[in-house]
Amino acid sequence: MTDTTPVDETAPAAPASTEDRGSNRSQRPVSEAFKSFITSQWGERADLGVEPGEAVPYTAERRAKLSARFPGARLVVPAGPLKTRSNDTDYRFRPHSAFAHLTGLGTDQEPDAVLVLHPVADGEGDPDGSGNGTHHHAVLYVRPLAARDTEEFYADSRYGEFWVGARPSLDDVTTLTGVEARHVDELRDALTKDVGADGVRVLIVTGADETVETLVEAIREEAGIEAGAEDEQLVEATSEIRLVKDALELEHLREAVARTIEGFEQVVPVLPKAVAHRRGERVIETTFDGHARLEGNTVGYETIAAAGEHATTLHWITNDGVVRSGELVLLDAGVEVDSLYTADVTRTLPVDGEFTDVQRRIYTAVLDAADAAFAVAKPGTKFRDIHAAAMEVIAARLEEWGLLPEGVTAEVSLSPEGQQHRRWMVHGTSHHLGLDVHDCAQARRELYLDGVLEPGMVFTIEPGLYFKADDLAVPEEYRGIGVRIEDDVLVTRDGNENLSAALPRRPEDVEAWMARLRG
Ligand code: GLY
Ligand code: MN
Ligand code: MN
Repeated sequence: MTDTTPVDETAPAAPASTEDRGSNRSQRPVSEAFKSFITSQWGERADLGVEPGEAVPYTAERRAKLSARFPGARLVVPAGPLKTRSNDTDYRFRPHSAFAHLTGLGTDQEPDAVLVLHPVADGEGDPDGSGNGTHHHAVLYVRPLAARDTEEFYADSRYGEFWVGARPSLDDVTTLTGVEARHVDELRDALTKDVGADGVRVLIVTGADETVETLVEAIREEAGIEAGAEDEQLVEATSEIRLVKDALELEHLREAVARTIEGFEQVVPVLPKAVAHRRGERVIETTFDGHARLEGNTVGYETIAAAGEHATTLHWITNDGVVRSGELVLLDAGVEVDSLYTADVTRTLPVDGEFTDVQRRIYTAVLDAADAAFAVAKPGTKFRDIHAAAMEVIAARLEEWGLLPEGVTAEVSLSPEGQQHRRWMVHGTSHHLGLDVHDCAQARRELYLDGVLEPGMVFTIEPGLYFKADDLAVPEEYRGIGVRIEDDVLVTRDGNENLSAALPRRPEDVEAWMARLRG
């Protein structure tokens, strides 16, 4: 990585404050000769060849849904800023999911951008998908590409073209998104316009960009407006309009699942290499993650590559353990595609390609629990009843194996006062899936957990059983075994479709698939 901070090489060596101490390292010249030379003699910028994005009609429809809920209010949806990883280096940028959903921008587009839906007279706003006017006009405030004669061009390591590449121009952004684009410097005035107790209210999606939030709070304070619960309602709404996926979202989720299945297929042949390596879990992680970077944007969440006892740690992402012959390895991983939709799939595989009897027994119980959940996943079912269906099987199997405490039947365990079976599966069975791996998380409870399934919803079914190595409540043969099976499910008109069905689930199918991939 190259040094990033400018310094006047000719200046006397005054002691730097600790804040600019980083400039100690820079050797960038500051002479006028250098400045005028580096900012001159550049050819015409190449046309980026930006075409209208495939998301344009879909995002118009999504913004229309939000518009209908908040007539008269100005709605502010930030992409978010670059985030420091350490000192002067940033994480790779990922826009906030609400921003991605409403603009169609993905990958690393566009730090500091802010989508604003400005209120207009009812019905006179941007057209929705069917040509009817909404209550808002959308504007995207972005930091456009700086000209080559600016210092930003060559000296700004965060935004400069020399450092991070050319960003799209305002015209490019408009072409790509179908939304009017303006310079981010105009944001303050645009947010302030007509704001007042009897005028426009300003609501912001909180948690995305602190600087823009502070700006909105200051504008409201100046206008004497209480920052009420309305921000929360906007956040809820941006989650709730994603509960039922549109056709483009489904296409991207299918793509994410397809790339994820390929990633799992790449892991199977490297299992012998994983066994041979002192940090075999990393062999698995890097194989999957490499595929995610090659064929998608990245992984949708940190890959869980958990061998043996590590599989009993639900979110084991350290992935520095050995992979032992005879044990199971739990791989929970998802490719996030460029539009930022992600899959979330888990398979628990026998390292040598064949399950032992006790592994198969536990695996089959988890599979049966998943199948019971699939059987009720259809329109009209309450979301929470998917989990209930899986838990009935888990509790029954634990009773059958004699693992529930003395005098506790599966029925007693399933009662709210019991729940002893949850010792071995403390997580839920399902969560919505989309731009966030745990999608729609800010939706109201009555629409999520207590909500009723509708065609177009996508969620996981992911029961598991986890017996820790030091769990004295189970016989020794169970200890150190963790199994989770996770699939991505689309609710259809009359049932469901397992989007990840191409990845084998039944133990015999897993074994045959592994044998084939190992050749
Ligand atoms: N990988 C996180 C989850 O399954 O929810
Ligand atoms: Mn999950
Ligand atoms: Mn998962």
